[in-house]
Amino acid sequence: MTLWGGCFEGETDDRVRQFGDSIRFDHRLAAVDVRGSIAYAEALRDAGVLVAEEAAQIVAGLEGIADEIAAGTFAVDAVDEDIHSAVERRLTERIGATAGMLHTGRSRNDQVATDLRLYLMDVIPRLRAGLADLKRAVVEASAQHLGVVMPGYTHLRPAQPMLFSHWLMSHFWKLERDEERLCDVERRVAVCPLGSGALAGTTYPIDRDALAARLGFSAASENSLDAVEDRDFVAELLTWAALLQVHLSSLAETLILWSSAEVGFVRLPEAYATGSSLMPQKRNPDALELLRGKAGRLIGRAAGFLCTLKGLPSGYNKDLQEDKEALFDTVDTVALELPLAAALIRTLEVDAARMADACDDELLATDLADYLVARGVPFRRSHFLVGQAVLRARDRGVPLRSLPPEEYAAIDPHFGSDLVAVFDLGRSLAARSARGGTATPAVEAQIDEARRKLAAAQRPRRPASLAP
Ligand code: ARG
Repeated sequence: MTLWGGCFEGETDDRVRQFGDSIRFDHRLAAVDVRGSIAYAEALRDAGVLVAEEAAQIVAGLEGIADEIAAGTFAVDAVDEDIHSAVERRLTERIGATAGMLHTGRSRNDQVATDLRLYLMDVIPRLRAGLADLKRAVVEASAQHLGVVMPGYTHLRPAQPMLFSHWLMSHFWKLERDEERLCDVERRVAVCPLGSGALAGTTYPIDRDALAARLGFSAASENSLDAVEDRDFVAELLTWAALLQVHLSSLAETLILWSSAEVGFVRLPEAYATGSSLMPQKRNPDALELLRGKAGRLIGRAAGFLCTLKGLPSGYNKDLQEDKEALFDTVDTVALELPLAAALIRTLEVDAARMADACDDELLATDLADYLVARGVPFRRSHFLVGQAVLRARDRGVPLRSLPPEEYAAIDPHFGSDLVAVFDLGRSLAARSARGGTATPAVEAQIDEARRKLAAAQRPRRPASLAP
């Protein structure tokens, strides 16, 4: 039985049904659909639309369905078009004709928009917890490896020395922004469309503010037309995930590169590597490759759904049903990735000696230019003079510190014999002590700040309630 057959005389083509039915993917909204319906039945009772016994019967029936869902015994039927029809069908089976009163003044348009928001209000705190744990893993690893020095890169070419922990912490701040953005999405998700009807509002005297509060929303929507067609919150969640995925994929790519035989800065523990069916010697970073590769999927989900939304005419359109698979797939993917990324960071083995070996004298070329600056040479000229020294050292096949003093003097008399003191990694790092730099105390300050943020995030949040 469809929810809408009255003015139809013939059957719907089977292909249309199969094409249009959303039950195969929206059944995961079952629990929130029932929750929304219970609150709606109570709102109808409070508005005097249902008498107390009718409402009680409906609520009891719905609570029974909620138990079935929790027990895994709620079965969808071949006739169910979507989860809303399935729940109403089951309610009718349980309580008879009174079930038909539940939908008074309600449309599946405000119902599905409400369900999807309720679903996200459950899911977002779990995503936030996963993100917080990944951030914690990054901070712990940063504190653990604080003494490790490595080459920092630009253009994938050695640039300046930095602490491995500085690199790790660079990811903390990206994830911190991801969490801020998620909290921002969460705020806009917590607006209740229920009581908007199909598009123009409800004719029943429902207290929509009370209904919103009953369901844990922080407000009721302001415009019924906007409320039923708005999927900005889905687009926001998808673009949020796409950007998070961009961060995860570049983290993964860096670790793939650094764990290669040629670079060898880090090793992947066995539990996070897989073998080859043909080549016995292989230990492949499949998990990291998937962490990188999922970017295509999640960016695609975001871009795809924005295309669905683009140019839709006013009001609910069935195109909007496309929100669910994109959203569910994205949520599932992120929920798998976050704990995996955290475990990878926690178990990463670091080869400090290999990283130190990769720090050659050229990595200190900028420091040598700073040495000349300290002797009164304008930076632009120092840059050129050090470039000349680099050329000569390369010609002779020696490290910069071993270029003879007379060669340095021939380039410029400001180079003195004390320049060898520049070639000290500890000194180079210590010089970068301004806030945000890679000096050990500056990285420790980052770690402290990160820990403060993590601790603050753990404090209980204000319960969602309607502002007075
Ligand atoms: N399954 C539909 C969806 O996901 C529910 C809303 C249907 N509304 C309608 N007017 N056909 O969007």
